[in-house]
Amino acid sequence: MSNKLFLYFLLFFYSFSSFSQNREISSLDQDWDFHFGYDVQKKIVTEKVNIPHTWNADEVKVGKSDYYRAVGEYTKTISISDKYKGKRLFLRFEGVNSVATVLINQKTVGEHQGGYTAFCFEITDFLKYGENNLITVLANNSYNYSVLPLSGDFNVYGGIHRSVSLIVTNANCITPLDYASPGLYITQKNVSSKSAELEIKTKLSLKNTGSYSLNTSVIDRDGKVIAQKNSVISGNEQIENFTINQPHLWNGRKDPYLYQVKVVLSENQNVLDEVIQKTGLRFFNVDPEKGFFLNGQYLDLHGVCRHQDLEGKGSALTKEDHEKDLQMLNELGVTGMRLTHYPHSEYFYEGCDKAGIVLWTEIPLVGPGGYKGAGYINHPGLHAHAKQLMTELIRQHYNNPSICFWGLFNELKLDYDDPVPFLKELNALVKKEDPSRLTTCASFLDNDHFNQVSDIIGWNKYFGWYGGPPEDMGKWADDMHGKFPQKAIGISEYGAGASVKQHTEKLEAPKASGKFHPEEWQTYYHEKNWEQLKARPFLWGKFIWVFRDFGSSIRFEGDTVGINDKGLITYDNRIKKDAFYYYKANWNPEPMLYLVERRDSIRTNPVTQVKVYSTLPEAELFLNGKSMGKKIPNKYKTAIWENINLAKGKNEIKVRSKQGKKIMEDTCIWELK
Ligand code: GCU
Repeated sequence: MSNKLFLYFLLFFYSFSSFSQNREISSLDQDWDFHFGYDVQKKIVTEKVNIPHTWNADEVKVGKSDYYRAVGEYTKTISISDKYKGKRLFLRFEGVNSVATVLINQKTVGEHQGGYTAFCFEITDFLKYGENNLITVLANNSYNYSVLPLSGDFNVYGGIHRSVSLIVTNANCITPLDYASPGLYITQKNVSSKSAELEIKTKLSLKNTGSYSLNTSVIDRDGKVIAQKNSVISGNEQIENFTINQPHLWNGRKDPYLYQVKVVLSENQNVLDEVIQKTGLRFFNVDPEKGFFLNGQYLDLHGVCRHQDLEGKGSALTKEDHEKDLQMLNELGVTGMRLTHYPHSEYFYEGCDKAGIVLWTEIPLVGPGGYKGAGYINHPGLHAHAKQLMTELIRQHYNNPSICFWGLFNELKLDYDDPVPFLKELNALVKKEDPSRLTTCASFLDNDHFNQVSDIIGWNKYFGWYGGPPEDMGKWADDMHGKFPQKAIGISEYGAGASVKQHTEKLEAPKASGKFHPEEWQTYYHEKNWEQLKARPFLWGKFIWVFRDFGSSIRFEGDTVGINDKGLITYDNRIKKDAFYYYKANWNPEPMLYLVERRDSIRTNPVTQVKVYSTLPEAELFLNGKSMGKKIPNKYKTAIWENINLAKGKNEIKVRSKQGKKIMEDTCIWELK
């Protein structure tokens, strides 16, 4: 083919493909004008912001329990060219806290209640083509009895705190309007290592009749199509069933294998729309006696609860922030996580799919815990709202293989209306929406009132922090398991506060609400709790409260007001506390050697212990260059040298380990006053 002819072919092909171009998705995160709703001056001064954004980020750590909860107004103009005439245009918001009213050219498009689930509005008929169009978003995070969360020990950061995108489709498309889900649902049935049945449901939005066909294909990690079907469409929903033989299972952290499912909508060979979803094939169950099983193998489901909250950003985290969290979770060696107390960013679920982290994810039906504030109330509209959030959570994340558990609530109390009748309705809705996963909840009431609600249950227990010694955790678990042997129980929260700036040489439980939260107590707390939890496989999951310190305007304890300091990592993400390394040593087999109490650097006791966490066979301690002998870490990866005599002034503490040719060392300085 001559060059000129080839060029003509390319131009023709490109023009043809651009005409039949299917879905276009573009980000609208840049360049919004923001001002507070109370500002109604003639000349309003707006602030240029990018999404994700919250107006509350800088109010944390100043101890303001009345952080600004009202209306923020965001505006942005977008030009819509004539070429979009005949197309359909949608705005998709991943999260606006807590109620969003959306207008186009000052005409109201719709309102969405709930700050942590996505929503999508069609704006086709509101637009002026060939001109600039004004998008206005009124975000309202004011306290509202019919919008969850009603209460809780965390801040509700107001704003467009997750991404916004413009979706352009042909008149006939795969719908983006089914609770803002991808419009493609992959149900796994009868999964085993031998075979897996897939039901793939695609929901369409067809504006006019025609002869449409849908091509559905299953693609392996190497891009090979391993199954496909082409069907003529007869309605707004198409279901295709496949059986995959010898599937490569999604096997948690060991082997998080992902397939892709692609659906292509066409009319007379002309592609109209295409959606691709990733999924992982797995089966799981929880045995009240033996714990959690993934693909028929016992899996010690241990990990952390995570708030989506970071110093200087509030809940407005970027993909880079989520990526950094995923790296630290990988280092920690979690096998599972509880995403508290609300649905998290889509990017994070995808990250857990890829990392093989098993998830518990929940809606923000949260009680006031140990604080004042309304408990569960049968507020008109609250039931429908909670059901809406649960439906959005399930449909938006239906295909994420990492999710195994849908959480119904956290710490509801019985001092207001009894929540159980509604919780039974909510549980039934979940089972109808998704019979393939288990329901759970997190209670802190030591009775069986909530046992009758969800498939399995978690308890939030803080022995050694809110009362009793850490050693009581095992006794409590055995007692609860003995009382309800048929009920699968887990620990949905356990933790203790710690300041990396406060230290003690005397181990005693500090006052939880006090200003003094020495790091060393948190370390001891976790060592003692983990020993007891690890020894009880009937506990189907063990989730630390909490991955990182987070903002909570009701907290005035520890070294900073407005912070809940039970994190394994500081709020600014800079310091991993000693307890982080205890779990890293116990959960992550990679070679590591860590001197504990390194930050307790000013000493008064001349005789002390030196504690080390290590995954290596043995370690040698040196005090000011002199060997103090070798130790082999115990089954909790801990080695302790007792009766080490410090010299007055600065002491160099060094520990050394060898693994083959690899030498690892860790050093710190303690000064004896
Ligand atoms: C409760 C609650 C958390 C809270 C934690 C705490 O269990 O579920 O939201 O932050 O305890 O007291 O730190």
